[in-house]
Amino acid sequence: MIAPAEQALSYTQEQPADAVAIEALLDHAFGPGRFVKSSERVREFALFRPDMSFCAWDGGRLVGSVRMWQVRVGDTPAVFLGPLAVQAAGRKFGVGGELVQMASAAARAAGFPVLLVGDEPYFGRFGYSAAPCRGVVMPGPVDQRRVLALGADKLEGPVRA
Ligand SMILES: CC(C)(COP(=O)(O)OP(=O)(O)OC[C@H]1O[C@@H](n2cnc3c(N)ncnc32)[C@H](O)[C@@H]1OP(=O)(O)O)[C@@H](O)C(=O)NCCC(=O)NCCS
Repeated sequence: MIAPAEQALSYTQEQPADAVAIEALLDHAFGPGRFVKSSERVREFALFRPDMSFCAWDGGRLVGSVRMWQVRVGDTPAVFLGPLAVQAAGRKFGVGGELVQMASAAARAAGFPVLLVGDEPYFGRFGYSAAPCRGVVMPGPVDQRRVLALGADKLEGPVRA
């Protein structure tokens, strides 16, 4: 693969026809364990928001994906980010960062705070922090230090539909 930085990648809003390629990418990125995560419980009840979900393409080949889901945290409407994945050969060229920033900007423009479960050392560079999330209750076991938010001083309560 040619390094994405060396050529133009394109970024598009997710379309229904992209789902098969995205599933294959997620299988490679996370393996079979991806379905037992607490984040997956959220995705079972949340409303998918394709308008805030994006794909990165190298020509016709999918390089990365980020998906967004509408939820409430307690009574506060919010959007849950994830999964985020970039094809192994395309990592460290900024594709993941571009996808996070596009999805986050779309959610913030629509007035939603964004919630996710991920590593603060990665997501912190995009403004995500665990500090507002101490009172967030995920639908399953989670390391609370990995529950991060953008665009809210404080989120509290169960993550629900
Ligand atoms: C996480 C992921 C999406 C990043 O994609 P990417 O296109 O490489 O991201 P970027 O190019 O924007 O950023 C790469 C940088 O983030 C760092 N990074 C990646 N994952 C990290 C993590 N979990 N914690 C801290 N830093 C991380 C890389 O080391 C790299 O650092 P550098 O810029 O100093 O070289 C990609 O590694 C991936 O698909 N991983 C497997 C799936 C996954 O873990 N998804 C996230 C779920 S929370």
